[in-house]
Amino acid sequence: MSDLLKLGVLISGSGSNLQSIINHIEKGALSARISIVVSNAPEAYGLVRAEKAGISCAVLDHREFSGREAFDRELIRVLKNAGVDLVVLAGFMRILGGEFLRTFDQRIINIHPALLPAFPGTHVQQKALDYGVKFSGCTVHFVDEGVDTGPIIIQAVVPVLPGDTADTLASRILKEEHKIYPQAIRYFAEGRIVKNGRHVEIRGVRGDKDAVLHNPPLEG
Ligand code: GRF
Repeated sequence: MSDLLKLGVLISGSGSNLQSIINHIEKGALSARISIVVSNAPEAYGLVRAEKAGISCAVLDHREFSGREAFDRELIRVLKNAGVDLVVLAGFMRILGGEFLRTFDQRIINIHPALLPAFPGTHVQQKALDYGVKFSGCTVHFVDEGVDTGPIIIQAVVPVLPGDTADTLASRILKEEHKIYPQAIRYFAEGRIVKNGRHVEIRGVRGDKDAVLHNPPLEG
């Protein structure tokens, strides 16, 4: 048990990605343990999900701290206390500062609901629709000092369909998030991630040259 990768999952909202990680662990598809779930939002539904799964939770309400540094320092303390090996940002809506990034160097990952480097930041499903892209998707990446700029581990692509709204596109993307986040954590847990600058290679993975998509589909 003790050599299982210990996750600290940081949330601010619904926690459906957290739920997917919990489910993968429970069904034996991911060898890891969630040591702690931390939310900066006391009302986050993800806290209920964590409690139902018997996982320790902490609420660090950012509004109760004098500033980002004080918040980050407490977050570091809580995560270290829980023995966290990998920090998993799952809908966590706070920017983490330099001290936090240095403390968990190469051990912080995030999921983003767009195909980075397109559409970093927030409200990205609407931005993808407004731009008129034919595909969007989601990205798991290491966290660096930029906003959604860190080295990419895995991506999933979904089509943008006629009549899509930000909500329909978001839920199509979210379904894939729930698959790629546990997969990325599994790569990490199995020690298969080789990082060389921006480039992330996964040991034992061979690309599929036929994994080509067209949208709209080709005719004839
Ligand atoms: C997801 O779309 C994630 O990519 C983004 O925030 C959303 C969180 O959803 N960073 P949930 O809280 O995991 O349901």
